[in-house]
Amino acid sequence: MSEKIYNTEDSRGFWMTRTNNSPNNRPVAYANATLDRTKELYRYIEDYIDSEYHIIEVGCNVGRNLNYLYSKDVRKLIGVEINPEALKMGSELYVDMFNDSSSLFLNGAAGDILPTLNNGRSINLCFTMAVMIHMSNEEQDFTMKWISKNCNIACFIELVEGQKRLGSTSGHFHNPLDINYNILVDAGFKITTQEKFKALQPNGPYTITILKRCRR
Ligand SMILES: C[S@@+](CC[C@H](N)C(=O)[O-])C[C@H]1O[C@@H](n2cnc3c(N)ncnc32)[C@H](O)[C@@H]1O
Repeated sequence: MSEKIYNTEDSRGFWMTRTNNSPNNRPVAYANATLDRTKELYRYIEDYIDSEYHIIEVGCNVGRNLNYLYSKDVRKLIGVEINPEALKMGSELYVDMFNDSSSLFLNGAAGDILPTLNNGRSINLCFTMAVMIHMSNEEQDFTMKWISKNCNIACFIELVEGQKRLGSTSGHFHNPLDINYNILVDAGFKITTQEKFKALQPNGPYTITILKRCRR
């Protein structure tokens, strides 16, 4: 049986309405998730952190990953998140980071928010953790194209080709199609790392893919 491919409206509608009373994907669950996966992410990206440039996380939920970077004295953090309750909870949990004038948290869908971010900010690194797989094809491709124009390093902890998708039965909205990393490759990026990311699910299908810009 082929899996349903959700459109932008359906997938956005699902994610923007997850509250702490929802049956799944509650902001509180992301706040309480183990920091092991965040520490592992940090291990991969720390060499690319440069205090002059911004780092953006698309789909940051409460901001748990970004707050870990903040605890390592990383500043110029940008979080984009479609779910207002997640950001509200994050602002109550991670007061210092949310109140720091060097960080920026924006509520809305990637496809709407990213185009507003270009002016005057140099963003070196963009990362996602289990986010692209929940976007429609259109929003995924839009996000990739935006990254290709605005960032030098992209790090995705997502599912990749050949790995079985979790399927919508897990209660999430999943896009069963492959994420198109070729948008970045065609724009001059090279995949420098692609390996299993066990910290998210020890036996799960997540992969970390890092792409670096080689030419403009
Ligand atoms: C599986 S959760 C992962 C949350 C976070 N990255 C983490 O690792 O804890 C997916 C996140 O992506 C957000 N999201 C989904 N679609 C989005 C979109 N189109 N634009 C921005 N955020 C989105 C969801 O609201 C949710 O917070």
